[in-house]
Amino acid sequence: MPLLEVKDLYLYYRTTRGPVKAVDDVSFFVPEGETLALVGESGCGKTSIGIAILRVLPVNVHLYKGTILFEGNDIMKLNDEEFRRTIRWRKISMVFQGAMNALNPVIPVGLQVAEPLIIHEGMDKDEALKIAMEALESVGLPKIVARRYPHELSGGMKQRVVIAMALIMKPRLIILDEPTSALDIITQANIMNLLKRLKREHKLSYIFITHDLALASEIADRVAVMYAGEIVELGTAEQVYLSPKHPYTQKLIAAVPTLRTEKKLEFIPGEVPSLINPPPGCRFHPRCPYKKPVCSKVRPKLIEVEKDHLVACHLYE
Ligand SMILES: Nc1ncnc2c1ncn2[C@@H]1O[C@H](COP(=O)(O)OP(=O)(O)O)[C@@H](O)[C@H]1O
Ligand SMILES: [Mg+2]
Repeated sequence: MPLLEVKDLYLYYRTTRGPVKAVDDVSFFVPEGETLALVGESGCGKTSIGIAILRVLPVNVHLYKGTILFEGNDIMKLNDEEFRRTIRWRKISMVFQGAMNALNPVIPVGLQVAEPLIIHEGMDKDEALKIAMEALESVGLPKIVARRYPHELSGGMKQRVVIAMALIMKPRLIILDEPTSALDIITQANIMNLLKRLKREHKLSYIFITHDLALASEIADRVAVMYAGEIVELGTAEQVYLSPKHPYTQKLIAAVPTLRTEKKLEFIPGEVPSLINPPPGCRFHPRCPYKKPVCSKVRPKLIEVEKDHLVACHLYE
């Protein structure tokens, strides 16, 4: 039984121009102890999948449905109170995109890390602070950092604080949303190494969200490629990187710069489609070099092209 299994998940947002189909019938699973990388261009619905799993939804939700099995139980069936009490932060936590720049500027970071223990566990402040300091140490920060304010810390240190926050309730699954995108390349490498160490030490599972395929390859066991609100390819990292099947994945991989090759970098012509009126059939067909008449008519289903390797493309039917 996988730790997390998402089936037929939808999340649409209400706007004056019509519903935005940010997550449109998405299914995947995360085995215990593994990292699933969720990759795709900006605006394809990656963050929306994260907030749908953690049920931290904006007010303008138009449609939110599907099955989310965690440890075998359908957590979509829990009411908000049960979900808050048993799942959010305790079992599943999230490092939000840009969170390191959203720390409270007037509260010492130790107290911010300790806050869930005080609020949700009813722990007294000193005890909670002690645990927060341990959490800060586990992410490679000296205990003294607990007394510092966010503006006194570097970007890398702030990101470590945010990771400590995600760890504080000892969850089993952490959703990491672009956790290194705002950092320079050396700091990014340090944070990636930290994430790998924490995963080993705490037996965590990750959903690692990024637009950066090369970065995802650092940590991914399996990869889900998203395009315009849908998963178009899903497989082990080896399958997706070494033998990508979907034309979109092939283009994405060809667009990753590699050192000292003569190969010309490819770019993907056309633009990312609107999620209000996505193209009919396969959403990638307007940009696809291999499109056939069926592609603009019938939405391709994910089919297994080899063991554990799924692709939604009419070329393989
Ligand atoms: N609260 C919201 N209301 C309306 N549209 C939204 C809202 N949040 C996100 N979107 C839109 O949903 C789509 C998917 O967004 P998002 O999940 O943030 O994508 P990603 O994380 O891949 O960049 C985008 O078109 C974005 O503009
Ligand atoms: Mg995002």
